[in-house]
Amino acid sequence: MKALCFSGIQPTNVIHIGNYIGALKQWSDLQHRYPCYFCVVDLHAVTVTQDPKLLRENILNTAATYLAVGIDPKRSRLFIQSEVKEHAELGWLLGTIVKIAELQRMTQFKDKSKKRGESVGVGLFTYPALMAADILLYDTTVVPVGEDQMQHVELTRTIARRFNQQFGDTFVVPESLIQTTGARIMGLDDPTEKMSKSARSPMNYIALTDDDDTVRKKVMRAVTDSGDDVSYDPKKKPAISNLLTIYHHMTGTHLKDTEKKFSGKGYGDFKKALAEAVIEHIAPVRRKIAEYRKDPQQLMKLLDEGRDAACEAAEKKMNLVRDRMGLGRR
Ligand code: TYM
Repeated sequence: MKALCFSGIQPTNVIHIGNYIGALKQWSDLQHRYPCYFCVVDLHAVTVTQDPKLLRENILNTAATYLAVGIDPKRSRLFIQSEVKEHAELGWLLGTIVKIAELQRMTQFKDKSKKRGESVGVGLFTYPALMAADILLYDTTVVPVGEDQMQHVELTRTIARRFNQQFGDTFVVPESLIQTTGARIMGLDDPTEKMSKSARSPMNYIALTDDDDTVRKKVMRAVTDSGDDVSYDPKKKPAISNLLTIYHHMTGTHLKDTEKKFSGKGYGDFKKALAEAVIEHIAPVRRKIAEYRKDPQQLMKLLDEGRDAACEAAEKKMNLVRDRMGLGRR
């Protein structure tokens, strides 16, 4: 079986360093090992209300971000989910395979619906079936994601096995690929909750597009723990441990070496160093995003090519699925 990697990000609000450390950073390494599909999952974005104009902007910003962090369109296919109709079609069909009770167990649905109450749409509930469709359409073997998406990938595996059992071998059963550290970056303003695009305050996250001064301000105002020693202990020191993890991913420095370096120096010095490390890492990404956005023709051409390649693979798989399920006419 050929190895293949698929992943995606919702084009909502901003892309933050949690998305970067948990997902994007590994994507650019993986493309040297596997054929990859990287998708801008706009159909998932509309499971909560979006402003259409802003959504369009965010779709292109997300695609530009993929390129800016090093996704190479010569190696990887880059495309927009809604432009490959088979995602919606397979999402519908997999909705007939997955059980209501399974969807009710999804923690992301539980969290999001708790916050939104009555205004939750059916799409938010069936979201994992669409995500399974994204993955299964391409015979994906690895899905690099942050920890919060693990449960969805697990459900994708269940759906694939169930479909294969019922209709004969059709789908490859994929695996998630999770970083050993940084798979769950916590909010700067609250280290008990994950860093989130939909956070109430922008002080929760560092966006890849934040300018240098904003990064400095956010890091310096980040919540810390009691005491003043810079040491890694997620239970007793969740805030500093989170900042240490970010520092590790920005500099490649081992946690133990960072602890030694800042021993006896207190939180202030560490935060200053962290802010500069983040700036050094993300300022070039921010500049590249702006460059890609300035040249829309290049971005459009790459997205056209990605769409065409994805359509070819997706159409083939959907023909097989329709056939297996006995849909339509031969
Ligand atoms: P999304 O858009 O919420 O997040 C994109 C990626 O970033 C990871 N991530 C994090 N990693 C570490 N710390 C955090 N605080 C953090 N926040 C987010 C996510 O785990 C994800 O990998 N359902 C997906 C999008 C999707 C998808 C797919 C992914 C749709 N179809 C198929 C993989 C394969 C989502 O909402 O990601």
